[in-house]
Amino acid sequence: MAVIEDKGALQAKAGAGISISNVSVVYGAGGAEPVTALKSINLDIQDGAFVSLIGPSGCGKSTLLKVVSDLMRPTAGQVAIGGASPAQLRKAGRLGLVFQQANLMPWLNIRRNIGLLKSLVAGHGGTVSAAAPSVDALLDVVGLTGFGEKFPHQLSGGMQQRAALARALALDPAVLLMDEPFAALDEITRDRMAFELMRVWQQYRKTVLFVTHSLSEAVLLSDRVVLMSPRPGRIHRVIDIDLPRPRTPETRLTEGFSKLVLELNRELYEVMH
Ligand SMILES: Nc1ncnc2c1ncn2[C@@H]1O[C@H](COP(=O)(O)OP(=O)(O)O)[C@@H](O)[C@H]1O
Ligand SMILES: [Mg+2]
Repeated sequence: MAVIEDKGALQAKAGAGISISNVSVVYGAGGAEPVTALKSINLDIQDGAFVSLIGPSGCGKSTLLKVVSDLMRPTAGQVAIGGASPAQLRKAGRLGLVFQQANLMPWLNIRRNIGLLKSLVAGHGGTVSAAAPSVDALLDVVGLTGFGEKFPHQLSGGMQQRAALARALALDPAVLLMDEPFAALDEITRDRMAFELMRVWQQYRKTVLFVTHSLSEAVLLSDRVVLMSPRPGRIHRVIDIDLPRPRTPETRLTEGFSKLVLELNRELYEVMH
């Protein structure tokens, strides 16, 4: 957190675009059995867009998200987020990450879990972006008002993921990077969370890169769906989702929605055979 003064990182505005250029990742390069997980990925994501990555298991979705979130360096190529590097933004605490597990601190209540990153920055003498929302505002936006004093084990899985989303938004991130955030939830909760996420996204307008296995979830949420092919992971096709917003449960009953899910299904079948 010491690099919070980093100018490039603080200048990256909320809703920054993501530019992925020629990114390749080889695991175990130089070893006996190198695995090419990603090969020459090029993708430009506009400010404030919601983009989903889908593709068969093992096609490199998590690897791509890790590169964008600076959890690993690509073997080749680069990523820029609103003109800053992922490393600059990570050091400044301005990458909002949400994973399949909420990973809340069990000994801190929800309010303190959500405020934890702010406390850490303050504890290191850093400055939090003026646009960072208050913990109360975050509790409110994710529908957890009244649950701030509860501990993680007192909350359902869906509520824990809401808290994880609030935590990801706490430092006014430049982007939200989500790797199968709803995969561990039951279907009914998962469905509800999709609409909650859209509401939060409409309010904060962060650029979202979202990994999912669910074709209908990808169509419901996204402006664009990026379909990846396996081994080595490449972009097979990018499909524009031109369904009107706001999207509601009724959106799924429309012909346009069914057509897009069917088209994705067909394309997915194609990349797997
Ligand atoms: N640390 C690692 N070392 C070696 N191979 C890995 C490692 N992480 C992932 N892989 C391989 O890279 C490929 C892509 O993995 P991953 O990005 O997790 O795919 P996805 O998220 O789409 O399921 C897979 O073949 C996986 O086995
Ligand atoms: Mg994965």
